[in-house]
Amino acid sequence: ESEVFKYYADGEWKTSSSGKSVSIINPTSRKTQYKVQACTQEEVNKVMEASKVAQKSWAKTPLWKRAELLHKAAAILKEHKHPIAECLVKEIAKPAKDAVTEVVRSGDLVSYCAEEGVRILGEGKFLVSDSFPGNDRTKYCLTSKIPLGIVLAIPPFNYPVNLAVSKIAPALIAGNSLVLKPPTQGAVSALHMIHCFHLAGFPKGLISCITGKGSEIGDFLTLHPAVNCISFTGGDTGIAISKKAGMIPLQMELGGKDACIVLEDADLDLVAANIVKGGFSYSGQRCTAVKVVLVMESVADTVVEKVNAKVAKLTVGPPEENCDITPVVTESSANFIEGLVKDAKEKGATFCQEYKREGNLIWPLLLDNVRPDMRIAWEEPFGPVLPVIRINSVEEGIHHCNASNFGLQGCVFTKDINKAMLISDAMESGTVQINSAPARGPDHFPFQGIKDSGIGSQGITNSITMMTKIKSTVINLP
Ligand code: G3H
Repeated sequence: ESEVFKYYADGEWKTSSSGKSVSIINPTSRKTQYKVQACTQEEVNKVMEASKVAQKSWAKTPLWKRAELLHKAAAILKEHKHPIAECLVKEIAKPAKDAVTEVVRSGDLVSYCAEEGVRILGEGKFLVSDSFPGNDRTKYCLTSKIPLGIVLAIPPFNYPVNLAVSKIAPALIAGNSLVLKPPTQGAVSALHMIHCFHLAGFPKGLISCITGKGSEIGDFLTLHPAVNCISFTGGDTGIAISKKAGMIPLQMELGGKDACIVLEDADLDLVAANIVKGGFSYSGQRCTAVKVVLVMESVADTVVEKVNAKVAKLTVGPPEENCDITPVVTESSANFIEGLVKDAKEKGATFCQEYKREGNLIWPLLLDNVRPDMRIAWEEPFGPVLPVIRINSVEEGIHHCNASNFGLQGCVFTKDINKAMLISDAMESGTVQINSAPARGPDHFPFQGIKDSGIGSQGITNSITMMTKIKSTVINLP
């Protein structure tokens, strides 16, 4: 029997009274790699109690001291980059190099957040009353930003460390306490990351990490009356959470179907490089991956040819060997991707490569001549399969992009900046990248989706602000 990793509550590592565990299947070997505790609702209640108490004194801890602890955690996190990256490789099959990058990026994010926090939380507003009609200058209003209370963070499998700290660090610097529910695939990486915060010496109960089955504690956590804010990244579950959640601020980053619009005058080598990087890095398992290429017919053959030449060079295999394409996270995910591929085949898409799958490993595939009646024109594969739709006008491209339920990011390739700006304005998505593939980073940039892609805006500054509330004090003069 392998060891069951403990969960983290009240500053300690604990075994659940459930006596049950959740298995984490290695996507490559498809065997159980780790086990984590299956926490109970009673344990969630205890965590919330401790979290409430810890938050009260944390909110009174000087801002510079909160920042100091975060800087310490960031440094420890970076020191632990190799063992954490090893977990990422085993749990989510992230290529080894990218796994190290994820941890380093996370350390940088935590430090940046500490710095940004002391600046933006260190100042408030001062208003006078006589700017509003009918008022004399007899009221002075002072505002500051106060914490919300308990922030519940639910990150996805594809960045179990980075998309956890992007919620943890803003919550803590702003004076909140934090309860983390890591994804099952990635839970051990997340526990190791939490260990770094533990070593930094945060007060007991301020940070907790609850593991378990979503079916048992998922709703219990998101509907818990003690929770004052939910920051979630993932799929459709986010829509369900937002429908049920109480009167608390929500930060949601859900799916995407990021379009890449290619005009005739684009630098086609740059286009091909970005389509391959944007579409196939981490095997397409990024919410910001390029998920549909909308290319002008006149340059389509050249673009497809250039992309195919690059796809042929992608290495396919285990994450330990740093292959570009690694097994997708679960068997059910691989089956879903296969369903989209089969549908496209039946409806006549052109297969630029042969479809090949071994276990969870799917070889990179470009599908040309995709039409709107195919599922892959609209659905998010979250795998290394990329559809190309040929368009005859820019309007056609914008129309396809805007007909999607999603609106996370998009990109446009052209040398004409005026056209690019007009297209950016016309695209209904949270961000449009001109002449580069979509991406969330740098992590201080605002990051948001519209429609089914999310609620609110992330990025370090926006997340800190979102996890606070304005408090006013008005001085009334006689
Ligand atoms: O999967 C969703 C992430 O927020 C995307 O982040 O653009 O850095 O890969 P990324």
